[in-house]
Amino acid sequence: RTVYLNGDYLPETEAKVSIFDRGFIMADAVYEVTSVIDSKLVDFAGHMARLERSLGELGIAKPLTTDEWLAVHRALIEKNEIADGAVYLQVTRGNGGDRDFVYPPSDTAPTVVAYTWQKPLLVDNPDAQRGWTVISLPDIRWHRRDIKTVQLLYPSMAKMEAKAKGADDAWLVEDGTVTEGTSNNVYIVKNGRIITRELSKDILHGITRAAVLRFAAEAQMEVEERPFTIAEAQAADEAFATSASSFVMPVVSIDGTPVGTGKPGPVARRLREIYVEESR
Ligand code: PDD
Repeated sequence: RTVYLNGDYLPETEAKVSIFDRGFIMADAVYEVTSVIDSKLVDFAGHMARLERSLGELGIAKPLTTDEWLAVHRALIEKNEIADGAVYLQVTRGNGGDRDFVYPPSDTAPTVVAYTWQKPLLVDNPDAQRGWTVISLPDIRWHRRDIKTVQLLYPSMAKMEAKAKGADDAWLVEDGTVTEGTSNNVYIVKNGRIITRELSKDILHGITRAAVLRFAAEAQMEVEERPFTIAEAQAADEAFATSASSFVMPVVSIDGTPVGTGKPGPVARRLREIYVEESR
């Protein structure tokens, strides 16, 4: 695989980052995952706008322009012959020298890493045809979930706990209501109305969420942005999740209780179809 590191395209075995890099020492880094369908980037502008916002919130210098980001993404897709898959992009605050809670000087060069992965079947995905089962777990992440940092240990632990219990993902609960999945935004459908938590610092402002809500509005579906509980989700007609890597993923059971018919519902299926069509 050919990867990108600080201006160079290299074989992955030759891409080396300092052990003093703050991404490694402090998780002082932000990232984006942009899907690729038929070799085309999905919602690229949205992902880059959010990247710039994340960098701004952390005071990390913006290393490349939007045109340069696009050139890097396109070059990696071409060099790695990606048809269906994703481009992963990470920007760290760079090499901060010996470990220090104080940021290094503001002219420290950020570290920029990007690479691709192939993921066939983004479109006719068997997971989406079956739907995910989820368990609920407490949301003990930090309180700036709107910044897309690489602090992913708790989401990773939650995913492991879900897998250990035979489920596909975990829905995280704080103060009685659901915030997000481990790496996706979540929704329920009741009497034809789509309900999803409103944007705040409690959740990541999903790029797929924005697209799906736009498509829902265009299709005259009703949307209500507010928190909901696990009990309300279990009693809903449908549930689903969205992210760049799963698109629209039906959720068919929560803590062992089937949602609706226990099969992917029509609203989730329709939104997934629209999203895939619009992305091609
Ligand atoms: N995850 N919420 C969280 C906590 C996420 O990590 C993600 C994305 C989302 C959905 O955002 P978007 O629609 O912009 O992908 C919501 C990425 C895909 C990941 O970590 O792999």
